[in-house]
Amino acid sequence: MHGRRLATTERILALLSPDAEGLYDQLEAWAADHGLDATAVGLEESVEEAYDPERSTLAVTLGGDGTFLEGIKRFTPHEIPQLGINAGTLSFLARVEPEDMDAALAEAVHGRATVDSRQMVAAEGENLDATGINDVMIENVPPENAFDRKVTTLAVFVDGEYVGEYEGNGLAVATPTGSTGISLSARGPIQLPANNRTLQIVPLHTHSMGVRPLVVSADADIEVVTREQASLLVDGGRVQKMLAADEVIRLTGATEQAHVVRTSYDEQFMAAVSSKLGWGLRSGTDSGPRELLASEVPESDVSTVEHARTIAKEAAQGAGEPLRELHGRVEDVTYKTNKSDIVTEADYQANRLITTVIRNEFPDHSILSEESEFYEGSSEYTWVIDPLDGTGNFAHGNPQYSVSIGMLRNNEPVMGVVYVPETDELFHAVAGGDAYQGETQITTTDRESLDESMLLSGWDPDGAFLTHFYNETQGVRALGSAALSLCYLASGSADGSWEYGTYPWDVAAGIVIARAAGARLTDRHGEPYTFTMDTEQRKDLLASNGPLHPLLLAHLQENDRLA
Ligand code: IPD
Ligand code: CA
Ligand code: CA
Repeated sequence: MHGRRLATTERILALLSPDAEGLYDQLEAWAADHGLDATAVGLEESVEEAYDPERSTLAVTLGGDGTFLEGIKRFTPHEIPQLGINAGTLSFLARVEPEDMDAALAEAVHGRATVDSRQMVAAEGENLDATGINDVMIENVPPENAFDRKVTTLAVFVDGEYVGEYEGNGLAVATPTGSTGISLSARGPIQLPANNRTLQIVPLHTHSMGVRPLVVSADADIEVVTREQASLLVDGGRVQKMLAADEVIRLTGATEQAHVVRTSYDEQFMAAVSSKLGWGLRSGTDSGPRELLASEVPESDVSTVEHARTIAKEAAQGAGEPLRELHGRVEDVTYKTNKSDIVTEADYQANRLITTVIRNEFPDHSILSEESEFYEGSSEYTWVIDPLDGTGNFAHGNPQYSVSIGMLRNNEPVMGVVYVPETDELFHAVAGGDAYQGETQITTTDRESLDESMLLSGWDPDGAFLTHFYNETQGVRALGSAALSLCYLASGSADGSWEYGTYPWDVAAGIVIARAAGARLTDRHGEPYTFTMDTEQRKDLLASNGPLHPLLLAHLQENDRLA
């Protein structure tokens, strides 16, 4: 999940430990000041009633790691991102101190926090279907009589391969998040948890020194077979089960991921390890995140346009998430008959996310979006946005649609970002610089002859471009997204592109990218293309690699002459 997505948060669901009510009052007041709705849920209550899937929600836990783990259990099934405020003592998971709560909340709901996805572990067996974020422990059951056997034996297989017998107190199958818990006290390795997709099998006090902690992929199928009675605990007892002899427990990485919100007010992971465990490699107290921020280039030195590119990339990728989700539901019964509903919803969600992020970062910039009223700011910068370019494709489940975010300075396009959610292609450029796809520089082709070229056509009402060039070239493709056509020209997968009529939001970003990659842009008469914010007129745009331009123009002019 992208942290920018939190910019559209409408409500906060807070899960409270019993002694955190004072802190909740502070949270509620903060939420009211920021126009957000807050609801408290006690540890004994379920979140089901308070949860509303229609409203974008941030979960906050107020308590220690126990409360955080309870939050994971309740919020993860709804994919709600979770921020932990540490009102406990030894906390590895809830890492924001209460005095930083307001600032951390502000960072999150402005979309400036990051959201880590955390691997969870799934355990299945007879009458057992549980997931945990820390670990699953399978342990001996203490005997009633002190003279009886105090150990247990477990046979372990990974992906069908026999690993061996674990004789001792048992074992823990821990996630990277859980690596600082029970697994650590059994001398397991510490794993940095963010976006780490592994599990570790750690023996608990085995009788054989040769049995070592084993790290496996989160896709591995781990099978534990009990040789005698044992007990199973998920996340320290949040789920418990007694196991008989010869039971089989299957463990693997859960398909669902927990979404953990990280702000710059979180104590950093290694700083927490260092200070809480006395790791001693460096001082944990003065190595917090604010030191890291200070080492970044000071904001005053970062040019507005470069900063805008960063924000535009994040906003476009953030908007890609709801678009991908809705695109995946195009074939749902609800949408099958009325495809315009899903397009309206997609336009709305993507537009709201992008405009909120921009308004948060650049409150004085103007915003022209296809999907909202013009917002007039006081600066010389204007953002021009098409939150979903290629609506026809989107509505039919075709993956060729894009998010287009351009920025103008004194009405001239100076920055462009185009993101393709289904393929994760991210095109970007600033005027005067190079064009990129991701981290890789892109340039137009240098083909000079039509018969080797591939062209793209957008709206072409009389079919003049398509019919004429289809036979003269290696093909003319109609992608259905003007922004994407300009990016494919920029990256060299096409040599020219024709649009009979474009709106400013279709091309504001794409023309910066195409120009930076070396493209030539004119109108149908060969006059240099001039961008306009006028939404009343659709402008024609012929874009090419340069060498082919005269040949493309010649035909358009010939066509006009015959018309
Ligand atoms: C349209 C697409 C299409 C182009 C049209 C645009 P929309 O935008 O970019 O490829 O030919 O001119 O209006 O409606 O999908 O945002
Ligand atoms: Ca468009
Ligand atoms: Ca659109």
